Amino acid sequence: MIREQTENECAVRISAVNTGYAAELVGICRRYTHPDGSLMVDALRGVDLSIPMGQYIAIMGASGSGKSTLMNILGCLDRPTAGEYRLDGIDVESLDDERLSQVRGRRIGFVFQAFNLISELTVIENVEVPLFYQGLPRKERRARAQEKIDLVGLTDRARHRPSELSGGQQQRTAIARALVSNPAILMADEPTGNLDSSTGESILVVIDQLHAAGLTIVLVTHDDRVAERSQRIIRLSDGLLISDLPGGRARVMATQ
Ligand SMILES: Nc1ncnc2c1ncn2[C@@H]1O[C@H](COP(=O)(O)OP(=O)(O)OP(=O)(O)O)[C@@H](O)[C@H]1O
Ligand SMILES: [Mg+2]
Repeated sequence: MIREQTENECAVRISAVNTGYAAELVGICRRYTHPDGSLMVDALRGVDLSIPMGQYIAIMGASGSGKSTLMNILGCLDRPTAGEYRLDGIDVESLDDERLSQVRGRRIGFVFQAFNLISELTVIENVEVPLFYQGLPRKERRARAQEKIDLVGLTDRARHRPSELSGGQQQRTAIARALVSNPAILMADEPTGNLDSSTGESILVVIDQLHAAGLTIVLVTHDDRVAERSQRIIRLSDGLLISDLPGGRARVMATQ
């Protein structure tokens, strides 16, 4: 009974307001402190950013400017020390850690520079991992993983282990894993950073296709050519958002 009430309360708190924004940040700060409470670094210093549903946005800035910190907050891997964050209409601050990880698991897909695959598992098993945590039956897990593997063009590699794959195939596996929960947002932190330029290009094509299919994409990159594929490029400097300009895709769409 108590459990049921808790569930219901959480269901109310977790209910999303349809704002048309995948993410809305107001005055977001992230301060790192030493164990004694003294200031270590202000990694974000009051960032305002609204990302409409379906937008493809690139985050740029020098090393240490706060890109990964911002990405971690957007992806609910970390909480801001001040400011408001609504993800997909949900007030993130109101969620306890368990609900936050649930929201993260279902609404956000992550792709990192270093693929982060489990070496003992095959491609399809790696892609299934997020569904395992959601408690889905094995048959359904398999079917959904296979669907995403087909989508990223790895059908004939599904039973291979990561060590038997090229870098590009490993990153495709990571993308399939990120997509398997049907997230609202795909977050990619330097997804082409470990790949040569033509392999990187093929990964960017996959991301373009996902964007065309309606997914919101947030991509961190140091590379102007990568950022130019987005609709919007924001730049961070020393924890502040210093510019917010249309990317190449926005300009192409405006002239069509
Ligand atoms: N866990 C942490 N503890 C303390 N300081 C941190 C921590 N993580 C990041 N920082 C600091 O916060 C600032 C922003 O770091 P962040 O990782 O967001 O930069 P970045 O823009 O992603 O850089 P890069 O391009 O090198 O990946 C840096 O000064 C960094 O040293
Ligand atoms: Mg970083």
